[in-house]
Amino acid sequence: MPMPKRPKRIAVLGSTGSIGTQALRIIAGEPSFSVCALAAGRNWRLLAQQARLFRPQAVVLADASFGRLLKAQLPRGTRLICGSARFGKGLLAEYSDLADGQDAMSQAIMLTRPDLVVTAVVGAAGLGPTLTGIRCGCDLAIANKESLVMAGGLVVPAAKAAGVRLLPVDSEHSALFQCLQGQDLKAVRRVILTASGGPLRTWSARRIARATLSQVLRHPTWRMGRKITVDSATLMNKAFEVIEAHWLFGLAGEQIEIVVHPESLVHGCVEFSDGSMLAQMNVPSMATPISVALHHPARSPRPTSARLDLAAVGRLNFAPADPGRFPAAGLGHEVIRRGGTAGAVLNAANEVAVAAFLAGKVHFGEIVPAVREVLNKSSHMVEINLRTVLQADAEGRRLAREVIQARRRRA
Ligand SMILES: NC(=O)c1ccc[n+]([C@@H]2O[C@H](COP(=O)([O-])OP(=O)(O)OC[C@H]3O[C@@H](n4cnc5c(N)ncnc54)[C@H](OP(=O)(O)O)[C@@H]3O)[C@@H](O)[C@H]2O)c1
Repeated sequence: MPMPKRPKRIAVLGSTGSIGTQALRIIAGEPSFSVCALAAGRNWRLLAQQARLFRPQAVVLADASFGRLLKAQLPRGTRLICGSARFGKGLLAEYSDLADGQDAMSQAIMLTRPDLVVTAVVGAAGLGPTLTGIRCGCDLAIANKESLVMAGGLVVPAAKAAGVRLLPVDSEHSALFQCLQGQDLKAVRRVILTASGGPLRTWSARRIARATLSQVLRHPTWRMGRKITVDSATLMNKAFEVIEAHWLFGLAGEQIEIVVHPESLVHGCVEFSDGSMLAQMNVPSMATPISVALHHPARSPRPTSARLDLAAVGRLNFAPADPGRFPAAGLGHEVIRRGGTAGAVLNAANEVAVAAFLAGKVHFGEIVPAVREVLNKSSHMVEINLRTVLQADAEGRRLAREVIQARRRRA
């Protein structure tokens, strides 16, 4: 009799967020999946509910001030690890022996040894556990695009060396990944990343500059966390995705194109050397790309999104991105050209500028010019290692705070 396969053990980092909760919904319906670790920032109530439902071995809460409240709600025997996502000594020593001093999510990975880590935390906090997951031989379902933007040159070679799979969760990259299964990467001429265009797609430059927070957060096709929703409105998200595609698929910047497609039904296309193009489609739902990554190399036996009725849709629209109104769209290609630590600076400056907008400290129209100013002012390091990436990250944050303060004084 064949032995029953043991469930795939999954760590969901960022389990209380938009991607994390959707991933857990898929996992809950699948007896072949189990959850070994969960991590969140501060939402201890939801994290406690999730822990009671999924019974993970370890739970991480970044904000230690809620640790006691969370501990009281956890099933007996659950290991609680509290602490920040800052890099510990272990990782800085070329992540040699990851014991004390390691960031909390990395500790949970080392303790639970998942088969698959879903990196659904937002921002630079994702880099430590991404590298640790690779070092521990875990496959990664990568939603945290920031880790690739800031350190794709570290993450991708490390994954290759460790023989672990990087499974994209971003819908556009999942589309490319699906189109590329069984294909020769050398035969790829170019890829197209589609962009919904965000909530301000049809607005004039003047109106865009003064867009309010509630206008920016009203995305027409996707329900996402606040940071990525702001990035979608500036189109910085597409710049990030260009860099992500560059690293994940080994493509030159010139091979990656952005096309605005307001319906968000075609998520990505690959054009091959013979001129043939493959595209991937489904109704806008992150459940599909998440499920593709969780089930890979199999497919979910159940539908993950509503059926797409093409006859009812009738017409699909495509247009170039407008660099005049959305100058961020070009920053991905620029960062690829600059190479070195430019991605780490871009990500850091953007995180600070978006946080300032979310806190009401700068106008929407100042996000991208501030990021551009930081890119121009930053010192460029060609060599990529964890130390240079973290230095560039720190410099990008410092410069962004200075640039934003100067802009506020002038306003
Ligand atoms: N949402 C989408 O449709 C979508 C699509 C493509 C890619 N992505 C990418 O997926 C990632 C997550 O996006 P999201 O929209 O799901 O964001 P989100 O809704 O804001 O969720 C972020 C998650 O990260 C947790 N978190 C934040 N800082 C943390 C830390 N230091 N340690 C541990 N956990 C931390 C949050 O915990 P709390 O809830 O406790 O704050 C939350 O669980 C981002 O990189 C985004 O670019 C998202």
